Amino acid sequence: MIKKFIPAVLCFSLMLTPSFQVAQQKQLDVPYVPTKYPVVDEMLRMADIQKSDIVYDLGCGDGRLVVGAAQKYGAHGVGFDIDPERIQESWENATKAGVKNLVQFFEQDLFQADFHEATAMTIYLLTSVNLRLRPKLLRELRPGTRLVSHNFGMGEWKPDQSSEVMVDDISHDVFLWIIPANVSGTWTWNMGKPAVKGEMNLEQHFQVPSGSATVGGAATEIKDLTLKGDQIRFVIDRPVEGKLVSMVFEGKVAGHNISGTIKFQAGGKEMIWEWKARRNLATEKPIDAEQGRTSRFTLH
Ligand SMILES: C[S@@+](CC[C@H](N)C(=O)[O-])C[C@H]1O[C@@H](n2cnc3c(N)ncnc32)[C@H](O)[C@@H]1O
Repeated sequence: MIKKFIPAVLCFSLMLTPSFQVAQQKQLDVPYVPTKYPVVDEMLRMADIQKSDIVYDLGCGDGRLVVGAAQKYGAHGVGFDIDPERIQESWENATKAGVKNLVQFFEQDLFQADFHEATAMTIYLLTSVNLRLRPKLLRELRPGTRLVSHNFGMGEWKPDQSSEVMVDDISHDVFLWIIPANVSGTWTWNMGKPAVKGEMNLEQHFQVPSGSATVGGAATEIKDLTLKGDQIRFVIDRPVEGKLVSMVFEGKVAGHNISGTIKFQAGGKEMIWEWKARRNLATEKPIDAEQGRTSRFTLH
């Protein structure tokens, strides 16, 4: 714990560069400390960057994450920084790397930026800033978007993956979250012939759903429930022709609709039914239990 805490605090408190003075006037939320290149590589690897991605870096510094994503993976990238000097450096670095056509940099407060277009996002901010940003991330990023943070977490929103990179004997954490669809609420569907009604009531805490179901009026356990981005999967055991079979539900969530399949074995054959579920929209609840808080970064 100490090993990880000291480098982060040292980095941020020792780097009181002249640009941080600019930062103070402009109310920077985080001082400028560039991510070391081995950590940049790990962040981009963990975000699984593809050519088709649009990678946003919030507080982009000299643009190294955005430029790296463009140079190494051919992805498009967008960087935001409130400090004009950083934006100028970002353009210079993009030009040197020959990726100017793939990237854009904006001198803008990251809290004012629009995140809807991002398919992957990188951040090196502070936990207090991440917590303020969290409701906006969950609201604006599309389900399935990969969010990677250097060193700082998201409070009770636990990462889906993490790793550690050692650079010059200092340990750096890299965390990944996959933005989840919101599947909370009551969903209904019809299944089989003659059709019976299926219903499930789900709660959701960040990316973790839980709940119960009834099929044909009988209470049924929902087993192995997982949600990854907009992909939901679970298993329900049902009697078919006198035998209990495991029915695998897999679907893609789009707003208040899920479409996918129900697969099971019956009479030695694999059966595949279409699955279309609809949510009662009044039953959807927020998945972010804790609201963002804390004020701007202050120097003592
Ligand atoms: C720790 S540095 C990270 C730089 C870069 N992302 C990296 O990992 O190398 C934080 C950056 O956030 C910028 N910044 C701080 N507050 C900001 C705000 N409200 N809006 C946009 N940028 C901000 C700073 O100017 C600085 O470049």
